[in-house]
Amino acid sequence: MEVVRQSPPIQGTAAAVDPLALRRALGAFATGVTVVTVGGARPHGMTANSFTSVSLDPPCILVCVQRTATMHGCLYDAGAFAVSVLGANQEPVARYFASKSRPMGNAQFDTVGWYPGAHTGAPLIVGALAHFECELRGTYDGGDHTIFLGRLLHLRHGPVRPALLFVNGQFGSTSLGSELLP
Ligand SMILES: Cc1cc2nc3c(=O)[nH]c(=O)nc-3n(C[C@H](O)[C@H](O)[C@H](O)COP(=O)(O)O)c2cc1C
Repeated sequence: MEVVRQSPPIQGTAAAVDPLALRRALGAFATGVTVVTVGGARPHGMTANSFTSVSLDPPCILVCVQRTATMHGCLYDAGAFAVSVLGANQEPVARYFASKSRPMGNAQFDTVGWYPGAHTGAPLIVGALAHFECELRGTYDGGDHTIFLGRLLHLRHGPVRPALLFVNGQFGSTSLGSELLP
């Protein structure tokens, strides 16, 4: 069978997609939940479930951030960021960093436990299952989002504990996976 190595350019207008159907279909894909943070002159945090592993060698991850989010400009300015992977008991933290009514700047971190990442200065959320500190290595057009590619500078993970999940617009949790690790 012949392998198509290069797809033809996309031409014409894409068929209209019902936004509600799109949201519902994408929402069926269960994800973990993270808080993306930056330090420096414009410290900021934002809940994100678009976090994805990209490459093991070199170690790279990505997050997709809405162009209208405050975090969008903060990421460009900081040039480095951190990702805290939330545990099952951290739904309030996820809701807080997704809320438009939280304070901005340093003040938004007054009500959560955090400490500055040694490699980026970005706030690391206390109690998270894992922390990734990254330097920003590329940005890519993602429609109404921008894809931020980070190269890993440092990581930390604690003992395996239940993770916070997001699926069908709701938070949940799982302890799945703990039996797989030594
Ligand atoms: C579970 C969950 C996951 C989210 N994931 C993302 C994401 O990956 N990218 C994004 O841009 N917004 C995401 N959001 C929405 C932002 O957290 C929300 O719009 C936030 O208020 C943006 O903050 P900012 O504008 O202060 O930066 C998510 C929200 C929730 C509740």
